[in-house]
Amino acid sequence: MDQDTPEAFTTAAAHEASRRRSFAIIAHPDAGKTTLTEKLLLKGGAIQLAGQVRAKGNRRATRSDWMSIEQDRGISVATSVMTFERDGLIFNLLDTPGHEDFSEDTYRTLTAVDAAVMVLDAAKGIEAQTLKLFEVCRLRDIPIITFINKMDREGRDPLELLDEIEKTLALDVSPAAWPVGQGRDLLGVYDLLDPALRMLDTADGSHIPLSGLEDPQLETLVPEGLLAELRDQAGLVTGGYPEFDREAFLQGTLTPVFFGSALRDFGVGHLLDGLARLAPPPRPRAADARMVAPGEAKLTGFVFKVQANMDPQHRDRVAFLRVCSGRLQKGARLLQVRTGKQVPVNAPLFFFAKDRQVAEEAWPGDVVGIANHGILRIGDTLTEGEPINFRGVPSFAPEHLRRVRLDDPMLAKKLNKALEQLADEGVVQIFRPLDGSPPVIGVVGLLQIDVLQSRLKVEYGVPAGFEHTQWEYLRWVTSEDRDAIARFSQFNRSELAEDHDGALVALFASDWRRKRAEEEWKMLSFHALREQH
Ligand code: G4P
Repeated sequence: MDQDTPEAFTTAAAHEASRRRSFAIIAHPDAGKTTLTEKLLLKGGAIQLAGQVRAKGNRRATRSDWMSIEQDRGISVATSVMTFERDGLIFNLLDTPGHEDFSEDTYRTLTAVDAAVMVLDAAKGIEAQTLKLFEVCRLRDIPIITFINKMDREGRDPLELLDEIEKTLALDVSPAAWPVGQGRDLLGVYDLLDPALRMLDTADGSHIPLSGLEDPQLETLVPEGLLAELRDQAGLVTGGYPEFDREAFLQGTLTPVFFGSALRDFGVGHLLDGLARLAPPPRPRAADARMVAPGEAKLTGFVFKVQANMDPQHRDRVAFLRVCSGRLQKGARLLQVRTGKQVPVNAPLFFFAKDRQVAEEAWPGDVVGIANHGILRIGDTLTEGEPINFRGVPSFAPEHLRRVRLDDPMLAKKLNKALEQLADEGVVQIFRPLDGSPPVIGVVGLLQIDVLQSRLKVEYGVPAGFEHTQWEYLRWVTSEDRDAIARFSQFNRSELAEDHDGALVALFASDWRRKRAEEEWKMLSFHALREQH
């Protein structure tokens, strides 16, 4: 296609967007996320990446192992985004860290996907981390496809699991399949959306089409007892749960449920078909000034993740840009809206295809790595000139606040610079008290402090320690009423600080104090979450 005219661009962007499916997998540790990722990649032909998924295994590693893994890592982009192609569709699977101490990273990654696969362990159902991650998806109305994994093991009654999803998450469920047997007796699943039997011991994806539950073929395929149970339960399920409703799914209020066993490579093809058919391509996204449609000719995108090169000789960082509209080409110069500066994108990293050869272009739904020297930070919007900002890359109120202790005061300046850079990357949050006292750093998970300490030392040559502060809680403070903010600031100066972007935060020594302030200052809003820009 001739892509030189604006109309052709628009058509091409809309077409390319329509064949993208960008998604993440959310799961409680051990539910089978890694195994499922591997199997998905194998199906998509990205075989050689599969080993790397397994090699990661960070979650099970001890703290010290984890640190050395990080240090050996270099710019390891391999598992950040995994792209594979199947039946003309391009799937971008965005990886999220397994360890809950890095959940902030996960939250930010979820801003860059169009759908999520929620993996549950059939024996455990909804677990703590599933719930937390689900809440973030709900905040962003991300459509969720549920995959109930480990059906090859004795688990809970599928009906009970559906009820649990419905009740715990306040989410409508619509089974896309129904298991035939379970545990040792698992024979396959019955496809409820497109009547067929998908048998455990046939090559996955191949299935036996049927006319429905009364199809006589079933009698030869399924033993009598199991068949009676299937007819009984599938009847119950189709009558008792809502039919798949695309609108409700897209709004994040209904989830289709698939069953399978990632380990046995069963149900994974069905899930992938589900992703292809049900998960949405990139949709219009809210920027501050307007909605941006993926098919627009001009490029827009936002940075949701920054990853540093751990090699101290190279201060390079890779910013991960989610393309929202238009086409990104190698060599483009883009406007960084926050600063008004032009950013050259000379060597973008495209993660296309199996061996990650550099592709020349990326389209809406794709993720591109832009190597830079610390210019780009999380939340940045890049455009071809239009001064708009995408909303929604969140900062969460830290759960641990620390003061940095520096043994060598000569390193203070270096420390400041390092903290700035690490804050840009989202490794920590940094808060500068208004009374001029030394900065306070905040993290959501304690492991982040270990990472900070190690990186300060290894990359910046700044050995530092961390001390507890008198503060336990932090909230962002906003109000339309400028006078009220001014009065509050005057009154509480020693307990106020500015975040990395200059936004006002209040620090509290106890939950009781936080609540009291919220009661006393009703004209102010106190937020546990801030959307950047
Ligand atoms: P995670 O990334 O969500 O933490 O889970 P991961 O895939 O690492 O799986 C956790 C454990 O559950 C692994 O066993 C894995 O083999 C097993 N598993 C995953 N999917 C299935 C499944 O469908 N059926 C069964 N029976 N097991 C499954 P492990 O013994 O902890 O590790 P490994 O030694 O097998 O790697």
